[in-house]
Amino acid sequence: MTCIIALFNQAGGVGKTTLTQNLGDRLKARGHHVLLVDLDPQASLTTFMGVAPDSLEKTPFDALVNEEPLFILKDVHGMDLAPANITLSAAEIQLVNLEFREARLKEALDPKRDDYDFILIDCPPSLGLLSYTSLVAATHVLIPIETHFKAFQGTNLLLQTVAKVRKRGNRSLQIAGFIPSRYAATNSQDRRTLQAIREQFGSIGTVYEPIPRLTAFADASEEQVPLAIYDPNNPALKVLDQLAVQMEKLNDSPAAPQE
Ligand SMILES: Nc1ncnc2c1ncn2[C@@H]1O[C@H](COP(=O)(O)OP(=O)(O)OP(=O)(O)O)[C@@H](O)[C@H]1O
Ligand SMILES: [Mg+2]
Repeated sequence: MTCIIALFNQAGGVGKTTLTQNLGDRLKARGHHVLLVDLDPQASLTTFMGVAPDSLEKTPFDALVNEEPLFILKDVHGMDLAPANITLSAAEIQLVNLEFREARLKEALDPKRDDYDFILIDCPPSLGLLSYTSLVAATHVLIPIETHFKAFQGTNLLLQTVAKVRKRGNRSLQIAGFIPSRYAATNSQDRRTLQAIREQFGSIGTVYEPIPRLTAFADASEEQVPLAIYDPNNPALKVLDQLAVQMEKLNDSPAAPQE
C-alpha cells in the first residue's frame, strides 16, 4: 500500500516544506520509492530541491485544472518530484467552477500509486482548495507545529478542516500525528510549548520527537539539497530517521475512529 502523506498546517513558516524534503530523503535512504508533490504556488519545495520554478513545462495546475497526467521530474536527489511554480495559484481560482474539484489531485495520483511507496504532499499555508484537495488525496495527514507560543493559533480550524474532510471527501484519512518543529531545547518557551503540544494533541494523534531548530536546515535549503547531502553527520538526521521508521509503520496501524 502506498502511503500518501499531506504535510499540512495553514500557519506559515512552521517547517512543512523542510520536513517534506528531508523526510522524503530519509525514506529514500531506507530504500523506498518516494514522490514529492509541491502543491504550494510559492514553490519552495521545488526550489529547495534545486529545480528552477520558472523553467517548468508543467505544474500540478495542468493535472488539477486540465486533468492532464501529473508532470513528474525523475530522480531529483534520488526522489521524484512533481514541481510547482506561481502558475499553480490560478488553480485555486479556476477549480472553484469545475466539477469534482476536490477529488482532482486524488485522480491525478491514482495512476502513479503503484510506482511509489510514499507520496509526500507539501501543502500551501492556507485552508483553501489546494490544501483541501491534498487532504482528499491523502491516506494520512502529518501536522508540523512550531514550538512557539503562537503554535495553538488556528489549530482548532486546522483540526476542523481535517474533520470536515473525514466526514465528506475522504472518510479513511488518518491523522499520522503532530511534529513539533524548529525546537530549541535551550529556550524555556520552546520547552513549555512542547509540553503543551504533547498535552493538547497527544489524545488526537502521536506527537513525535521534535525537529531541532538548526541553521543547517536553512543552509541546506539555500544550497538546494536535503540536509543529509549538506551535512551528512548532522545530529538532526537521527530524529528524521526515527520519523521515517514511524512512517513505515503507518500502514500497519488500525484505522482511526471516524467522527
Ligand atoms: N528545523 C529548522 N531549524 C531552523 N530553520 C528551519 C527549520 N525548519 C525550517 N526552517 C527554516 O524556516 C523557514 C520556513 O521553513 P519552511 O519553508 O520549511 O516552512 P513552511 O511551513 O513550508 O513555510 P510556508 O508556510 O511558507 O510554506 C525556512 O527558511 C527554513 O529554512
Ligand atoms: Mg512551505
